[in-house]
Amino acid sequence: YEIIFKKEITSTNSYAKQINDQNPDGKHRLVIAEKQTQGHGRRGRSFYSPAKSGIYMSMVVPFHDAKHLNPGLLTTMTAVVVAKALKKSYPEEDFLVKWINDIYVNNKKVVGILTELVMDAELMQPSAIVVGVGISLSAKEIPEEMKDKVGWISDKQIDKNKLVADIVNGFDEEFPHYLEANFIEDYQKMSFLNGKRVSVDTTKETIDGTVTGIDKEGHLLLDVDGKSTTINNGEVVKV
Ligand code: BTN
Repeated sequence: YEIIFKKEITSTNSYAKQINDQNPDGKHRLVIAEKQTQGHGRRGRSFYSPAKSGIYMSMVVPFHDAKHLNPGLLTTMTAVVVAKALKKSYPEEDFLVKWINDIYVNNKKVVGILTELVMDAELMQPSAIVVGVGISLSAKEIPEEMKDKVGWISDKQIDKNKLVADIVNGFDEEFPHYLEANFIEDYQKMSFLNGKRVSVDTTKETIDGTVTGIDKEGHLLLDVDGKSTTINNGEVVKV
């Protein structure tokens, strides 16, 4: 791993993509920052990334064979890895996942994951994948007026380096065989949507239904008026 640490950055994902474009050398990289000024999430959302109270990191994983690429499953795997790493640092908290890529504590989102592909402009195929993880740890640096808009885990002091190491090591352990999806069972256990009425925005349409589970590929299973429906891609917009 090449580790790149910045005090302040626009976005670790953007930076990781840029570095990979400039050095298509197939190196694994970790970009980590104390603060992001333009942290972003899925669907054009911004990700609030103040200094000191969070972890903002991106792992760059080079790819040589597009057959091994399944960004959805990789995101699911990362959610399990991050939740398990967090549990080691905060054994007293319960970490639950909201399909597909958010981790919640006490009904508040505390982790967002954004997976982005890096395209090789010449070969017109993905050359690497950037897995960005943003964690809101404590409320210490969160201004009063933001406190009802964002979540955080707790104000307990933890060893941030150990948490990052647990995430990276967990990721490296699972990644070589992530297509086998052995982590799905853990994901299913942590998913808090089971049995809930939800609205899912698939960008084509909004589907209302009751969550019946998560399948082996990490897809969301819904009961829509008695018909079982599989959602491959989308965002749960209402619970
Ligand atoms: C989401 O909530 O939709 C995903 C949020 C992902 C945030 C992380 S923070 C590190 C990395 N850099 C970014 O700009 N985004 C991700």
